[in-house]
Amino acid sequence: MTTESIIASLDIGTAHTTALVAAVGGELPRAPMLRVLGVGQARTQGLRRGVVSNIEEATHSIRQALDEATRLAGVNAESLYIGIAGEHVRAMCSTGVVAISNDEIVRADVERVNEVARALAIPQDRELLHAIPQEYRVDNALGIRDPVGMAGTRLETEMYLVTIGSAPAMNLRRSVEKAGFKVKELVLEPLASALAVLSEEEKEMGVVLVELGAGTTDVAIFHEGKIRHIGSLAYGGNNVTADIVHGLGVTQHDAEQLKEAYGCAYEPMINADELIAVPATSSQPERHLSRELMCHIIHQRMDEIFDLVQREITTAGYAGKLNAGLVLTGGGAALEGVAELAADVFSVNVRVGVPSGRLSGLRELVDEPRFATVTGLALYGAHRVALGGAVVRRAGLSGTSVDKLAQRVRDWLQDFF
Ligand SMILES: Nc1ncnc2c1ncn2[C@@H]1O[C@H](COP(=O)(O)OP(=O)(O)OP(=O)(O)O)[C@@H](O)[C@H]1O
Ligand SMILES: [Mg+2]
Repeated sequence: MTTESIIASLDIGTAHTTALVAAVGGELPRAPMLRVLGVGQARTQGLRRGVVSNIEEATHSIRQALDEATRLAGVNAESLYIGIAGEHVRAMCSTGVVAISNDEIVRADVERVNEVARALAIPQDRELLHAIPQEYRVDNALGIRDPVGMAGTRLETEMYLVTIGSAPAMNLRRSVEKAGFKVKELVLEPLASALAVLSEEEKEMGVVLVELGAGTTDVAIFHEGKIRHIGSLAYGGNNVTADIVHGLGVTQHDAEQLKEAYGCAYEPMINADELIAVPATSSQPERHLSRELMCHIIHQRMDEIFDLVQREITTAGYAGKLNAGLVLTGGGAALEGVAELAADVFSVNVRVGVPSGRLSGLRELVDEPRFATVTGLALYGAHRVALGGAVVRRAGLSGTSVDKLAQRVRDWLQDFF
């Protein structure tokens, strides 16, 4: 196996820093497979509201997670696909128009129109993360996926641009480099998660991915096969835990444990007489609390979070358009009753999304919703490797021209979002 076919990814979440090492195989370039070799996890330190606030501490978590993943994999990781998220992320649509002078539209025309749409002025303190072509218009024909070969005089594109703050991106890159790794690419976390848990059919029909993290709840709406809206709410599992601390008068540590062991987001599923044991502390002996009370607290908070998600969907203009319903992922999606509550609030089909499809090897290591992001990042990397390889082969060129061509194609063919 060549070293290029090894992929490593890193998800620095509010609660956990997770690393994954995998090998890329399968049918390249269309359907790459990811053979999971190792996963590592550490408690995140040095992160505030989704961005690195202490490089030294973040470096420590990164090293710990990668040490564990590479030890398990038995291979080294050099450069990483890394997730980025936070309040500094912005997305917008941009259009571009060019004239077509030949008989039919060629690949160069598509590149030209993409270039125009992408050439939006980006403020100095921000950088462009993703430029995702959504659809093309040839003269009056709308909704075209690939205009190459079509006849027309005017080609228009709509592109989804995602930008990030330069400072948070720089601090993230520094932390990774200080930990001894190279940054291969930064990828927006919810887009990575979507790659791991959503099917093409769901994205085509219209679906909302709701990622229940510790610090944030991220929303990504797909319709007609493409990403249409991303949003992030500043509430997550940490708020649920804090409510339990206040409501039951237990420590943060106990609240987290009780939530994960006995939590339920849907009160009707709980018996009124069930009791749960709260471990003794130095100041209090062991005691018993009503499980129904704890689940009432969780239910209230999750209901509130889902109401905010509902508002986000409505404001984005996709209420009633999500025919494939809602997919829950992230650590919080492991909470009992969370799908039942969501089905109640949204009145659509709800399922819990765990990384699936195109995975082999130690796939059971990522078989939980909280591994969606790190697995998606690696799948993104697998696509990149597959695409890069295909371009080099087909072009039959050498040296820098290959690199340039590969780079351009990589920039535009973000088909997988
Ligand atoms: N079984 C469970 N029941 C309830 N909550 C759970 C369970 N397992 C994990 N969680 C919650 O999931 C959250 C962690 O999820 P995850 O690892 O996806 O977050 P993160 O990526 O670190 O955070 P973020 O994405 O917000 O930066 C925590 O709040 C944790 O309490
Ligand atoms: Mg996360």
